Amino acid sequence: MNAGSPDACSPKKPGWPPVARLGLADIAALRDLEQLCFSYHWSEAQFKLGLERGAFHFLGTKDQGRLTAYVAFSAVAGEMEILNLGAHPDYRRQGLATNLLCAVLHICRKMGIETGYLDVKPSNLPAIALYEKLGFTCYGRRKNYYPDTGESALLYRYDFPHPGADAAKPQSASKESD
Ligand SMILES: CC(C)(COP(=O)(O)OP(=O)(O)OC[C@H]1O[C@@H](n2cnc3c(N)ncnc32)[C@H](O)[C@@H]1OP(=O)(O)O)[C@@H](O)C(=O)NCCC(=O)NCCS
Repeated sequence: MNAGSPDACSPKKPGWPPVARLGLADIAALRDLEQLCFSYHWSEAQFKLGLERGAFHFLGTKDQGRLTAYVAFSAVAGEMEILNLGAHPDYRRQGLATNLLCAVLHICRKMGIETGYLDVKPSNLPAIALYEKLGFTCYGRRKNYYPDTGESALLYRYDFPHPGADAAKPQSASKESD
């Protein structure tokens, strides 16, 4: 079971902007934000291909039409992978990435996804803190993984609660937790 803070994904905090699905019309904004967030980034063509093939899902938040944060993920055959996540430098530390990841977890739970995966640079302490807060746990390391810096990747997973887990609890135990 994941050990994220129990209220890390609690219902939307007041003032959190709504999360929306992004589409082809958002590609230029996605590319621009990606360039601000990463030294190694996807091209416009890669975003387009992922969207057109339905291989990736993109969610984002906007402020007066301006893209402020986004997450890209895949969800197939019971597994989810966070492919990219970024918040505009002017909008960081306001809960946008938390809001987006919680939306991904919510969507995946409804899809019956069992496990989520992601990788992160060991030097990326803000992202590591965020993932661990939401209940992702580190299960390994892959050496020389990132082409831009040659850094290793830390591998994280998120185990979605099994739908039958509560029903399987002894009755007295489930009463105690009411
Ligand atoms: C990592 C990133 C997506 C976080 O976005 P964000 O919207 O600022 O994150 P949130 O406001 O939701 O932060 C949630 C938690 O993450 C952790 N966190 C976020 N930024 C942090 C920082 N600079 N230092 C330490 N912890 C941080 C904190 O635990 C924070 O909770 P708190 O603010 O209550 O302490 C953003 O810093 C970013 O775009 N970085 C560049 C791209 C990147 O590294 N993406 C991840 C690739 S794996």
